[in-house]
Amino acid sequence: GITRHYPFNVQLHNVTRLCKTKTILTVNGKFPGAPVVAREGDRVVINVTNHVSNNVSFHWHGIRQLLSGWADGPAYVTQCPIQTGQSYAYNFSITGQRGTLWWHAHISWLRATLHGPLIILPFKNTSYPFPKPHKEVPIIFGEWFNADTEAVISQALKTGGGPNVSDAYTINGLPGPLYNCSANETFKLRVRPGKTYLLRMINAALNDELFFKISNHTFTVVEADAVYVKPFETDIIVIAPGQTTNVLLKTKTNPSATTFYMAASPYFTGQGTFDNTTVAGILQYKLPHKTSSTTPLKIQPLPPFNATSVVANFSSKFRSLASPANVPQTVDKKFLFTVGLGSNPCPKNKTCQGPNGSMFAASMNNVSFTNPTTVALLQTYFSGRNNGVYTTDFPASPLVPFNYTGMPPNNTRVSNGTKTVVLPFNTTVEVVLQDTSILGAESHPLHLHGYNFYVVGQGFGNFDPRKDPAKFNLVDPVERNTIGVPSGGWAAIRFRADNPGVWFMHCHFEVHLSWGLKMAWIVLDGELPGQKLPPPPADLPTC
Ligand code: C2O
Repeated sequence: GITRHYPFNVQLHNVTRLCKTKTILTVNGKFPGAPVVAREGDRVVINVTNHVSNNVSFHWHGIRQLLSGWADGPAYVTQCPIQTGQSYAYNFSITGQRGTLWWHAHISWLRATLHGPLIILPFKNTSYPFPKPHKEVPIIFGEWFNADTEAVISQALKTGGGPNVSDAYTINGLPGPLYNCSANETFKLRVRPGKTYLLRMINAALNDELFFKISNHTFTVVEADAVYVKPFETDIIVIAPGQTTNVLLKTKTNPSATTFYMAASPYFTGQGTFDNTTVAGILQYKLPHKTSSTTPLKIQPLPPFNATSVVANFSSKFRSLASPANVPQTVDKKFLFTVGLGSNPCPKNKTCQGPNGSMFAASMNNVSFTNPTTVALLQTYFSGRNNGVYTTDFPASPLVPFNYTGMPPNNTRVSNGTKTVVLPFNTTVEVVLQDTSILGAESHPLHLHGYNFYVVGQGFGNFDPRKDPAKFNLVDPVERNTIGVPSGGWAAIRFRADNPGVWFMHCHFEVHLSWGLKMAWIVLDGELPGQKLPPPPADLPTC
């Protein structure tokens, strides 16, 4: 492979959306950010320079970062933030991966505007396991706020209440014609008849899973989270924040009209408010002859916002292309992690806007994770001097088991801490991620850094350790980095801890991340030379 250099200058830029001009953080003045493109086997060096007053850090979502955990990026987990005027070069190689991933800021809510595609092409002279597409097009879904997103989250954290919701969804940064004065800001995909297009879809929205459809067209899904899947046909896509999905779109040879709508709207089962709007874009045919047909555009209806059955049906179709896939057949360590909301008491002399006057929190196994503030976990771990920054007692299962998905149980209180799980090198791990109905059942897109995992099982209700493992797929389960844990249900994942470092695992809803739905794995070095995390690069930021 070769080395590819990308300068990332974090700078302010004015953009106008929904009739309002706003100053946003961008990489190199672009919104959304430009793609980082590389081939499997290449080394990528991204030199970030911070020209704004916010602290920043960047994550290469889905990149395995084998022995390069220092380049992973979550603030206070693998690095201190890059401060104003500072630079840091993220340096990693791409091993054993090809497909669509993405990059985004990983501190506070800055990823709202700091994000872009990360496209890994197969090795030279290696083709896709599907016919070569005529063209490849990134489709980034986002969420637009008229307000400053940093103000939105700091207000929510101050009052303990839920944050204000977004004002629009976007496709490649554009809200489209269904919003006020946005008709000129509509994404148009220009296509020729009878051709195949590879759509590289990324959900970069902060807090919403989305349904996506192109009227009168169907898709062939070929890849998820940069892993090939057994192709399947669908007319609807479900994509959670953090996830990426590659689909083939075969255009019609004789379309009945020159333009068709594409549209995305939210899937939401939680409590409280959400942005229940629809972003539309246009699929525009370039036809050799002039068609007089200006058939009025019609959006085929998207599923209702709470259509959990559509989501379950869609996610059940994913299978690894490889059969058998390399899924661990035996497990060294088993975990059961509840994922859900909770609350912290309101400080004295304050009124709070969370549930029953409390402050919203979110947790795994009733532990709400607190980020360190003066040093990154990975630095602490590597130096061998913990100084009380973290503990290694993150519970392997809920301390007091309860009816997770029953009527709201009386245990909404969380405890706060920086708790981790330590795994010896090469441990095979199974984690059952169990949604809870504490403050309402809700789907949670759980993301693991530094690994892909196999989704060996999913179901509704409480996971049953006596019956459910018999139904696990240990042959060709889908391999991903982000899984939508079913609303009121569970998902079981397996991975082999073969990458030493400190690896974040969290809900990819930004508000849940802010509320503490996160934890970290510490994977120890192995015995052999190629199994040890090298020392930190000299330019690693300090706090
Ligand atoms: Cu895409 Cu830790 O996140």
